[in-house]
Amino acid sequence: MSVVKNWDILSPNYLPDILPHRESQTQEIANNLSPASKGRKPQNTFIFGAPGIGKTASVNYVFREFEEYSGIKTIYINCWDFNTPTGVLTEIVNRLGLLGTIVQRRGWAKDEIMQRFNEAMNKIGKAVIVCLDEVDQLVYKDQSVLYDLLRMNAKNPLGLVFISNDAHVFAKLEPRILSSLNVEEIEFKPYTIEEMKDILQERARNGLRSFENGVVMLAANHAVQKGGDVRVGIQTLMKAATVAEEEGTDKLKVEHVKQVLSSVGKAKPEILKEKINDTEKIIMQLFDENKQMKSTELYDSYRSMVKEPISDRAFRDCISHLEQLKLIHINKKTVDGNTRIISKA
Ligand SMILES: Nc1ncnc2c1ncn2[C@@H]1O[C@H](COP(=O)(O)OP(=O)(O)O)[C@@H](O)[C@H]1O
Ligand SMILES: [Mg+2]
Repeated sequence: MSVVKNWDILSPNYLPDILPHRESQTQEIANNLSPASKGRKPQNTFIFGAPGIGKTASVNYVFREFEEYSGIKTIYINCWDFNTPTGVLTEIVNRLGLLGTIVQRRGWAKDEIMQRFNEAMNKIGKAVIVCLDEVDQLVYKDQSVLYDLLRMNAKNPLGLVFISNDAHVFAKLEPRILSSLNVEEIEFKPYTIEEMKDILQERARNGLRSFENGVVMLAANHAVQKGGDVRVGIQTLMKAATVAEEEGTDKLKVEHVKQVLSSVGKAKPEILKEKINDTEKIIMQLFDENKQMKSTELYDSYRSMVKEPISDRAFRDCISHLEQLKLIHINKKTVDGNTRIISKA
């Protein structure tokens, strides 16, 4: 008999039936948005807090309830996947489902998509709530879509939920967008060790057949020590379960968890590295060799590594993107001219 009852439950993408210790936050999100079900304007909401503490899960939890019980159409978008104005708008229009084939092809101008969007909003016959998760990606690249969404005036209400790790992300908004942004903020605080234990206990109970006392405590401790990301705890359970399965035992033991602890670290940099472009990957590779470099040296090293280097300007955009992701640090002081010291974060 195998240790694992259900691998899906041990995956970080799984959305559990209940979210222990996020009851008040999910309630607040639902309260803000539910006027939409009666045709009234919902309260736009901004959720912020550290990585891996249930922000995305909470919104998707509320969205699932809305889809089932309230007749509200919900659209969840991760701005890592759609980080341009036309990308976001096309995705929304496609998900509204009314224009499917029309917006399939690439190359629509923003105005045209906005027009389709308006038509779709007027036709759909119910309120729509859009969540823009990791909204920093839009604020950083091209904010204009936020303006369009905030100023949208259709027959059916449109509600917006924004999520970011950065509490101050909107400080970077242009004034005209900021003045249309009337959001209620909900701060997600990190879980305490007890809360982390409850969450992992529930996950283990549903995902595993049998586990020793102490397994959950150890995984919870590890997750809190590595910065409080629940994914670290879940990944610890999953890796330990893999070891137990290979061994052919039918119970997950503290021993198995101990074996994998050192291999499960902070989730964040790994996740981020999948999302950076090729130039940015090369830059990060260069920092594996030298912890610190002058910006001019960095560009020269980069140029010597690739056949068709991107422009100096585009390169600087990559550098600021990496800084924004907190993968590198740019020294405020210049050394000569525009040259700055850049180091690995
Ligand atoms: N209160 C909770 N109960 C159950 N699972 C949770 C809870 N909070 C977080 N998780 C799980 O932890 C993982 C990370 O949560 P997520 O919502 O993606 O974090 P965030 O969006 O804050 O970075 C997900 O697998 C999620 O299911
Ligand atoms: Mg998230």
